[in-house]
Amino acid sequence: MPQANYSPKTDALHNLKYEMEKDKSLPLLESNLVFGEGNPDTDVLFIGEAPGYHENMQGRPFVGQAGKLLDAMILGLGWKREDIYITNIVKRRPPENRDPLPEEIAAYSPYLMKQLEIINPKIIAPLGRFSMNFFLPDAKISLAQGKIFWWKDRLLMPLYHPAAALRATAVKDALKVSFAKLPVVKKKYEEFVRDRKSGKPEHTPKPDPAPNPKKQAELF
Ligand code: URA
Repeated sequence: MPQANYSPKTDALHNLKYEMEKDKSLPLLESNLVFGEGNPDTDVLFIGEAPGYHENMQGRPFVGQAGKLLDAMILGLGWKREDIYITNIVKRRPPENRDPLPEEIAAYSPYLMKQLEIINPKIIAPLGRFSMNFFLPDAKISLAQGKIFWWKDRLLMPLYHPAAALRATAVKDALKVSFAKLPVVKKKYEEFVRDRKSGKPEHTPKPDPAPNPKKQAELF
């Protein structure tokens, strides 16, 4: 992928990656580290669950079939992959692509939090339930996807995982609809912040983190 322009955040991310490489207490050390890539100055951070076969081989997130769909959706917005940042919660591939275990998520999550703090995006887009449940532990992906939530001072918009979209047309259709909201959410971010500060209830997402997504204000 073409490298984004140099940013002061680049060094911090580089150091974090180095710290992870040295951390032998992490699980899944038999797989390669897939740290994440993109523009560290992005407004939008996509977070998947864990690398798969191709990601492990190439050391890059979302480069297999699910990644192709993600790329197509990003391009469909008129954005480029190198404009945004993509990473995973678990940054090494679980064997046979099994679901990440709670203890693997717990072990890798401090690094995700540091990565998040460095990139400091306005919008977090968790891809799939594992990533979403890290931020919204009790949410159901079918209910929460495409809705927006406050998570600390950031907007969070869970999306279906592109791999799930490849398995079911209805999921793919829903993902496309939700994905198309991202530029609108990005554009309205400052407005949402203003409304939140002024306590305007009618179109502000509710405070974080939402135990029950049904209670969240829906902006769309
Ligand atoms: N699925 C994920 O969750 N992450 C990747 O990087 C690839 C597939």
